[in-house]
Amino acid sequence: MNDTAPVASAATAQSITITLDGTNRSMTIPLIPGTIGPSVADIRKLYGELGIFTYDPGYGGTAACESKITYIDGDEGILLHRGYPIEQLAEHSSFLEVAYLLMHGELPSQAELTEFTYNVSHHTMIHEQLRRVFEGFRRDAHPMAVMTGMVGAMSAFYHDSLDINDPRQREISAFRLIAKVPTIAAWAYKYSVGQPFTYPRNDLSYAENFLYMMNAVPVEPYKVNPVLAQAMNRIFILHADHEQNASTSTVRLSGSTGANPFACIAAGIASLWGPAHGGANEAVLKMLAEIGHVRNIPEYVEKAKDPKSNFRLMGFGHRVYKNYDPRAKIMQRTCREVLDELNIKDEPLLDLAMELEKIALHDDYFVKRKLYPNVDFYSGIILKAMGIPTSMFTVLFAVARTVGWISQWKEMIEDPSQRIGRPRQVYKGATQRDYVPMAGRG
Ligand code: CMC
Repeated sequence: MNDTAPVASAATAQSITITLDGTNRSMTIPLIPGTIGPSVADIRKLYGELGIFTYDPGYGGTAACESKITYIDGDEGILLHRGYPIEQLAEHSSFLEVAYLLMHGELPSQAELTEFTYNVSHHTMIHEQLRRVFEGFRRDAHPMAVMTGMVGAMSAFYHDSLDINDPRQREISAFRLIAKVPTIAAWAYKYSVGQPFTYPRNDLSYAENFLYMMNAVPVEPYKVNPVLAQAMNRIFILHADHEQNASTSTVRLSGSTGANPFACIAAGIASLWGPAHGGANEAVLKMLAEIGHVRNIPEYVEKAKDPKSNFRLMGFGHRVYKNYDPRAKIMQRTCREVLDELNIKDEPLLDLAMELEKIALHDDYFVKRKLYPNVDFYSGIILKAMGIPTSMFTVLFAVARTVGWISQWKEMIEDPSQRIGRPRQVYKGATQRDYVPMAGRG
């Protein structure tokens, strides 16, 4: 072969041709290029032309939408929001600035940020009748159960912003969700410990206000520690959006039916709850507590590798990242800062986590499968040091991700090619047969 001849690659090809073996039927499938990342094959006409569907359980190779919000290069460990690297946003930005960026596509001017902050902070209180809904929950309810219920219940209270076809109502719903979710989250915690609800303070930043509502009690003053507020700001930024993950896809799928945004975000919260997704931060801490000591690590690593065991190293592995999750690196650094600020010289869980990471990263099983620590591996240790109970970890993830969910939902509603999400299947059940009356069944 001539070395200088141009070689078509996946990056330059504009279509693929697919042929049904044993027939003369074939079709050309156009490739849609992204601004970065792989092109996608547009198979919308495949069934119409060749009478076949594609099969992709878990959607590992399927793009379900066009999006301009978040880009991930899983092989290189890159995460960009609207083109900006997560490292730069975590270092320099505030959570509400990132929220504006995700929703509007550009970093705000000072005037735009001031207006956005005003709009969010003036929706932080929840309806007093909604407050009473808390009392219907058992005191020992998991706060994610409370979150799912309370956010879903918002659709029963804010009738004036349920029309998804009205851009102004969509905007008000977005403000309400971003503003009220921290209040609901903090109150879910207060309810579980039997303390009075703390009303939000609009003079505080988003992260400060959340810490204030979680920790303040009416009988004494509470001052937010600025280092912890900065750590919380960073944790919120790191969780703000992550492309078409399970909960975001749930929000889009629910929203594709025309369901109202409060119902869609409640569906997202339910999806986030699972230990393979947002519930992993809680599961990591439980796992570290169960491992208990560095000397027990090899036993747990062996268990994670055993195909007969269901046990997995929580906080390890990712559907998209086949490299170190860039969020995990920032989390690890933040973890150190928080422990230093709180003068925690010796945190056995951190020592255990670091040793576990070291052993796993050198183990053939994890190396071959490219299993690296993900965002949840260190976040639990930080949150625990900050005095946040384990059951609240996934709730914090939900607070931050609400911004991503609402941005993705808004993008979907505004996309003219949007239609109801409706996957197909390979049917493997019985073929058509006649009903058998009871007396005739064997
Ligand atoms: N421990 C041990 N083995 C693992 C792990 C793990 N944490 N993760 C994946 N594997 C193995 C898996 O058994 C499989 O091995 P084999 O090829 O021999 O069957 C291989 O790696 C590929 O795994 P997979 O299940 O096909 O990968 P996936 O993309 O479907 O799953 C995941 C991704 C995140 C669900 C999975 O890695 C996992 O369960 N991790 C632990 C839970 C966790 O930390 N989740 C948080 C994800 S990051 C935050 C978020 O997005 O919510």
